[in-house]
Amino acid sequence: MFAAIAKRYDLLNHLLSGNIDRRWRRLVAERLRAVLVESDALALDVACGTGDLALVLASATRGARVMGTDFCRPMLEIAAEKAHTRDLKIPFIESDALNLPFGDSTFDAVSIAFGLRNLANVEAGLGELLRVLKPGGRVAVLEFSKPIVPVLSLLFQLYFTRVLPRVGGLVSGSRIAYQYLPDSVSRFPDQKRLAGLMRDVGFEEVEYQNLTFGIAALHSGTRPVR
Ligand SMILES: C[S@@+](CC[C@H](N)C(=O)[O-])C[C@H]1O[C@@H](n2cnc3c(N)ncnc32)[C@H](O)[C@@H]1O
Repeated sequence: MFAAIAKRYDLLNHLLSGNIDRRWRRLVAERLRAVLVESDALALDVACGTGDLALVLASATRGARVMGTDFCRPMLEIAAEKAHTRDLKIPFIESDALNLPFGDSTFDAVSIAFGLRNLANVEAGLGELLRVLKPGGRVAVLEFSKPIVPVLSLLFQLYFTRVLPRVGGLVSGSRIAYQYLPDSVSRFPDQKRLAGLMRDVGFEEVEYQNLTFGIAALHSGTRPVR
């Protein structure tokens, strides 16, 4: 499904979100800033798609290394092209988020943006993020969530279920992918439940910030040191 929409993915992201997605990704980099400014830090963006978050993270570092991984090669090819154009050295590696090809305790920071919702098992995905993080390392999860203002929630539902699949289908040629988007968001845990899942898996200091009235949420946590 992601291979089919890869070429139009960035255009539709910015078009359908009114460019707000760019701001949301910058907030992820801000949340991870304390790690990214360490010159010897290593960060991984999981389910990186066309690389937009990895590029933002790499621009926010002072020498830290950033890597991206995704299981969809056409998305990764676009990510690699974008990094090359901007002269950023970001290795993009093809792998399954549920079976990351990295050892335990490898990364100082791990992020996942609009990826967790797509995994066959959300808890197992969070477990993999925890496993590859160093003790004390930070995770950031950016994902669609539940709008916190009732009127907005209704409008958002209308937009998400009626407008978005039509526009997304027309521009990308894959109506299925843009019908899958609202369906998968409606099945995904809301802000509090996701925070609970993160704690259950073993993250500490879990907190979240509602973005654009809860249309999206940015969760973060740390891997316990002990
Ligand atoms: C909605 S896109 C998000 C891409 C990017 N993170 C962003 O912010 O634009 C979801 C991505 O998750 C990837 N993905 C879904 N399931 C995956 C899995 N099990 N392992 C690795 N990548 C996965 C897809 O290939 C796709 O690129």
